[in-house]
Amino acid sequence: MGRRLLLLLLAMAAARAPTAQAWGKEGHYMVCKVAEGFLTSEAAAAVKELLPGWAGGDLAETCSWADTQRFRYRWSSPLHFADTPGDCQFNYARDCHNTEGEKDMCVVGAINNYTAALKDSSSPYDPTESLMFLAHFVGDVHQPLHCGHAKDLGGNTIVVHWYTRKSNLHHVWDVNIIETAMKDFYNNDVNTMIEAIKRNITEEWSNEEKQWETCQIRAKTCADKYAEESAALACKAYEGVEQESTLEDDYFFSALPVVEKRIAQGGVRLAAILNRIFGNSRVQIS
Ligand SMILES: *[C@@H]1O[C@H](CO)[C@@H](O)[C@H](O)[C@H]1NC(C)=O
Ligand SMILES: *[C@@H]1O[C@H](CO)[C@@H](O)[C@H](O)[C@H]1NC(C)=O
Repeated sequence: MGRRLLLLLLAMAAARAPTAQAWGKEGHYMVCKVAEGFLTSEAAAAVKELLPGWAGGDLAETCSWADTQRFRYRWSSPLHFADTPGDCQFNYARDCHNTEGEKDMCVVGAINNYTAALKDSSSPYDPTESLMFLAHFVGDVHQPLHCGHAKDLGGNTIVVHWYTRKSNLHHVWDVNIIETAMKDFYNNDVNTMIEAIKRNITEEWSNEEKQWETCQIRAKTCADKYAEESAALACKAYEGVEQESTLEDDYFFSALPVVEKRIAQGGVRLAAILNRIFGNSRVQIS
């Protein structure tokens, strides 16, 4: 094929790439950085042991790995989300499947899958990959548009303008809100934003934070509950948004606190899941 055509195809692939992603790199990095602060020393040590060499001993460095595996592991693509018919509710039996109708193939099924795999030392799955998938999917299930409406692919087909730039509703929630916040409030420094979120967890949300992870059934995770929350938040995210809508300050200022809280919840809950897997109170699954 001609060089021009090849370049054009590459450019098109690059332009499409964001729609295929989850929380952008920053979102996943922040979720995992928050989680690191809540790990018990046993869990932190076990996680470190499982990390690949290229992570440099830092879980957060691996939290976007799953997005890079979508083509290598085609089956993993539907595991990043759980779209609904648009009734603001997530129903596992109804909504957790891939397009072929195969059950459990959604983000909630994946979180349960990799949690169980990490707990079970006889699991055939590669534990390093299980950890990296788990850390990524706990982030994804907290992004409201990952439990968006199936008919618009979780907002991917709703073209909008983010201030003056062309985007889509899904990408706004994955990337644009975080990017704008970093630029406007955090000196373009992801660590400054993480510190602000962590401060809110210990001050602003210290009381409710204890309710974020009250999952008593230890053999399973509370991932279906997180998806229900996201499905409800997604309905608010769609409100007033149409094809070609321009979203700017009004939308940004109502969405940003939601994004920050979802990152906080994702981090706290990922730590709780890892602590249950690797902590002292290790529970056998029968
Ligand atoms: C569970 O994990 C295995 C290994 O990565 C994968 O092949 C399978 O599709 C996963 N299933 C779900 C529901 O996540
Ligand atoms: C901190 O909490 C306040 C009140 O809920 C919220 O408005 C603000 O956006 C939060 N900031 C961060 C960084 O989480």
